[in-house]
Amino acid sequence: MNINAERLYASLTALGQIGAYSDPDSGVSGVRRLALTAADAQGRRHVVEQMKALGLEVTVDQIGNVFARRRGRDDGARPVMAGSHIDSVATAGRFDGCLGVLGALEVVHTLNDAKHVTRRPLVVAFFTEEEGSRFGTDMLGSAVATGRVPLERAWGLKDAAGLSVRAELEAIGFLGAQSVALAAPHAYVECHIEQGPTLKAAQQDIGVVTGVQAICWHELTLIGKSAHAGTTPMALRADPGVAASRINVKLRELVASGRYGTELRATMGQLRLEPGLVNVVPNRVTCTVDLRNPEEEILARALEELLGFYRQVATEEKITLTHRETARTPPVAFAQKVQELVAGAAKRRGLSSRAIVSGAGHDCQELARLCPAGMVFVPGEADGISHNPRELSTSEQCANGVNVLLDVLTALAEEEGR
Ligand code: GLV
Ligand code: MN
Ligand code: MN
Repeated sequence: MNINAERLYASLTALGQIGAYSDPDSGVSGVRRLALTAADAQGRRHVVEQMKALGLEVTVDQIGNVFARRRGRDDGARPVMAGSHIDSVATAGRFDGCLGVLGALEVVHTLNDAKHVTRRPLVVAFFTEEEGSRFGTDMLGSAVATGRVPLERAWGLKDAAGLSVRAELEAIGFLGAQSVALAAPHAYVECHIEQGPTLKAAQQDIGVVTGVQAICWHELTLIGKSAHAGTTPMALRADPGVAASRINVKLRELVASGRYGTELRATMGQLRLEPGLVNVVPNRVTCTVDLRNPEEEILARALEELLGFYRQVATEEKITLTHRETARTPPVAFAQKVQELVAGAAKRRGLSSRAIVSGAGHDCQELARLCPAGMVFVPGEADGISHNPRELSTSEQCANGVNVLLDVLTALAEEEGR
């Protein structure tokens, strides 16, 4: 059995038109479908329609995760689940997350066409706010479904405008009735773009994902003293803008020092100065830090040094600094069994593959708490650029990944037992 590559790519393109915008820098068409916005709602309805057209039974849970179930020959057996997310960052392409969801639906379409009924039921899922771009916590829906984040806490998270997750779920009609406590599936598999340069550079068709690195996000608030830029002597200033800049440089130094090996990633992705005027020393700065490493122990040590620097810079710049940890996940290792199935399927299809650790966070790392879980990566063009409108995997690259997904899902779905 083979999936239909053209149908899959057309489906990615169609979903990519929902929330489309023209990137002012490159002129390329991108996707802006932040979680629980009107665009996300439209995307959700579009995907739900496809699920229903494929004959799947659709349910929505209390955090807005959507599950579409295909009956199995032994319908009481635990299902095999596949999926990902369809929410996006504000400057996305059309592949991140969508390949996992639409790819799993393409698998169902292929099975339907072949009138092939698997022993276990199959469930295709998409999870709420995987990106964390709107409400600040990544993998939110899957973290709630698997018990890491309590529902009440998730419902209470607010976006920059003060709107809560619960209110927005209600507003877009996706506050479902189903309990969020997800019953353990038999297994979970997610197909995703690599979002980096490794596979393409190594000329590999498929990434066998061994796990996901540890991630920590901070949201910092720095308060100083606003003053006239021309008249206030430098010695009298308490400038939180300078403090934030020093933290950003410190992030680069943490990496460059080599004290934390070669795999530390450190980013200040948001920085806002207030009042934000050319001739006024700012009095308030908000910024974010994203720190990642495959080793928990290394990440913890780097964090310790960073926290010490927050204190140092606050004293030296005569400002107050508070930080809030908005996301923190440990490294996650994926099931050996799923890795072997992915590698075996790639080999049987004549595709090259290699093991790879995921640099990005994924819903799969949350599901890994409940059941054997794993991922199939496909390469990306243009250095695997992602979280950017230029994100691109070709039809062939996507089809390779989804064919492997098909093989892995159908193998898992024949396994014995409950
Ligand atoms: C999710 O895309 C992440 O930030 O890793
Ligand atoms: Mn993703
Ligand atoms: Mn992403």
